[in-house]
Amino acid sequence: MNDYINIALPKGRLGEKVYSLFESIGYGCPEMLDGSRKLIFENAENKVRYFWAKPSDVAIYVERGAADIGVVGKDILLEYSPDVYELCDLGFGKCRMAVAGKKGMRIPTDRTIRVATKFSNIAWNFYSEQSRDIEIIKLNGSIEIAPLLDLSDVIVDIVETGATLRENGLEAFETICDISARLVANKAAYKFKSEAINRLAARTSEYILENKK
Ligand code: PRP
Repeated sequence: MNDYINIALPKGRLGEKVYSLFESIGYGCPEMLDGSRKLIFENAENKVRYFWAKPSDVAIYVERGAADIGVVGKDILLEYSPDVYELCDLGFGKCRMAVAGKKGMRIPTDRTIRVATKFSNIAWNFYSEQSRDIEIIKLNGSIEIAPLLDLSDVIVDIVETGATLRENGLEAFETICDISARLVANKAAYKFKSEAINRLAARTSEYILENKK
C-alpha cells in the first residue's frame, strides 16, 4: 500500500476541478464521482488514494504526512506557513487578498487601525512592513460585517468577484497579494516517493500549460 500516492483534496468546487484535472492526466478514481458520503477513495490500478478534507485542513494532513500531496490556497500557505513543499501553481481558484472598508472612508492615520480578519498573520505582516500600528480582531467568517457595525475600521479578506464588497457598500483599497491554488507535498514523502510525486507534478504542470494556450 506504500506505493500509493495519498492525495488530500479540498472539499467543494475547487477540489472537484482539481480532481478532474488529475483524472485527465491518468489518476482517475471513478468511485469519487458516485455521489456517496464516503470521504476516502482508492483506485488500485492507478495507485491513488484520495480524500476530501476541509480546505483549511489540507495543509495539516500534508504537513503531518497523512497525505503525500494536496491542494491548498496560497492564502493558507501564507497564513500558516506549513512545512511543506510547494510544487506548482494550478492557476485555479484565483482571487486576491485585499484591505477593504466602507466606500469613501479615510483610513485613520492618528491612531491604531482596527483590522478584522481570518488572516491575522497576513494582516500583521502587511502592516508591520508599513510600520503601522494595528489591532487585529480575529473573526471566522462574514468578515464584511465588521466595518459596517464599526467593530473594525477595515478588513483584510479574500476578494474574488468583488460582489460581497459591492453589495455591502464596501470597497477594496489595496491588494496585499494574489492568491491561487497550489499543489503541495509532504517533505518526507517527496523524498521517498519522489518518482511518483514528480511524475504527477510534471503531468500536472504540462496539463496546465497545454490548457493555457
Ligand atoms: C469569501 C471571502 C469573501 C467572499 C469574497 O467568503 O471571505 O467574503 O468569499 O467573494 P466575492 O468577492 O466573489 O464576493 P466565503 O464565501 O469563503 O465565506 P466566509 O464569509 O465564511 O469567509
